[in-house]
Amino acid sequence: MKVLIADKFPDKYVEKLKEHELDVIYDPSLGENDLVNAAEDVDMLVVRSTKVNEQAILNAKKLNLIVRAGAGVNNINIAAANKKGIYVANCPGMNSIAVAELAIGLMISLDRKIPDNVIDFRNGVWNKAGYSKAEGLHGKTVAIIGYGNIGKEFAKRAISFGMNVYVKDITRIEGYGVKDFSEFDKMLPIADVVSIHLPATSQTKHLFDDKMFSYMKEGAYLINTSRADIIDEDALIRAVKEKKIRVALDVFSEEPEGKKGEVKSKLQGVDGIYITHHIGASTEQAQNAVAEETVRIILDYIESGVIAHWVNKAKKTDSHYQLVVKHYDKPGVLASVLDVIKQDDINIEEVENTIFDGGLVATCTMKLKQPCKDEMLNLIKNNPNVITISHVGL
Ligand code: 3PG
Repeated sequence: MKVLIADKFPDKYVEKLKEHELDVIYDPSLGENDLVNAAEDVDMLVVRSTKVNEQAILNAKKLNLIVRAGAGVNNINIAAANKKGIYVANCPGMNSIAVAELAIGLMISLDRKIPDNVIDFRNGVWNKAGYSKAEGLHGKTVAIIGYGNIGKEFAKRAISFGMNVYVKDITRIEGYGVKDFSEFDKMLPIADVVSIHLPATSQTKHLFDDKMFSYMKEGAYLINTSRADIIDEDALIRAVKEKKIRVALDVFSEEPEGKKGEVKSKLQGVDGIYITHHIGASTEQAQNAVAEETVRIILDYIESGVIAHWVNKAKKTDSHYQLVVKHYDKPGVLASVLDVIKQDDINIEEVENTIFDGGLVATCTMKLKQPCKDEMLNLIKNNPNVITISHVGL
């Protein structure tokens, strides 16, 4: 089985995969466009921020699993993967502490203007008078937007600073087509610091727009270590200029694809914005934890067929009926049940057959798109190897 690792990945974990007799190709230099050819002939693909676009997915002949060695999966064209039945998995929680640590660092940097201190010193400017005006963070109010793994780690650290912590969790409803962006009008006006910890989805895109900035306090701090898409950068520039909002970002819209080179952004020339180089997850500790989880996902899948952290599994299906058939575990019994369902032209959306201890009896749960007619249910019931059936609407 061929595994392509198309991003920086610790050697120790490349070797671990090789020990399991996988044909591992490790090439961190590959970029988005290279994947079209490089992934053509592989079974599994591991990436960090390298984009996996539609063309790469369409061109891949054997690709079965893409593992995002990190949390956010917005660099992978999941819609294209869905069309070809390619599993996409991620490693949630493995780099949360690293990201939270950076967000805390950015918060202190904003309060003490640490980057400006350093730049001035390097330029031969001494300004103790100017830089001695920080307010301090103790007793200040922080609004954490997104209360998943990273938001929780940030909260723990903010509480230990003696800050008042408010959270707004919208991740639980992701994928259900529901927007719940209420309460921002109450929370943002009292927040001295706002820290964003959200995934990039159609629901969070440009969540921070002119309206959201209008709720924020004059001079408040905004930190974003999650995804660039969540902030409308033109609205951000207006808020910085008009409301003196001070900002620290680890992500921005024109982030270069490569790991080194030039960088250009409309945010560069704006006073009051600090930007780091998308390094939130890039500590040795976090990268090892993510790599370990990536290896676990791949090996578990090979051994058990189960995908851990499978992100493109349908959150809800079109099934409105459930049929449970308890039957003797003999060859052909399940096939005959399925045959009856097929005669009725019913689509089975999900199926799980589990065997009771001892191996004599099994129970099969099917989620159906349409209901079974009574005569079909009777046919199933009359099978001498079927013990009981239950058919309900969901
Ligand atoms: C993540 O989603 O895990 C972080 O943004 C890390 O991205 P990186 O692996 O490219 O550093």
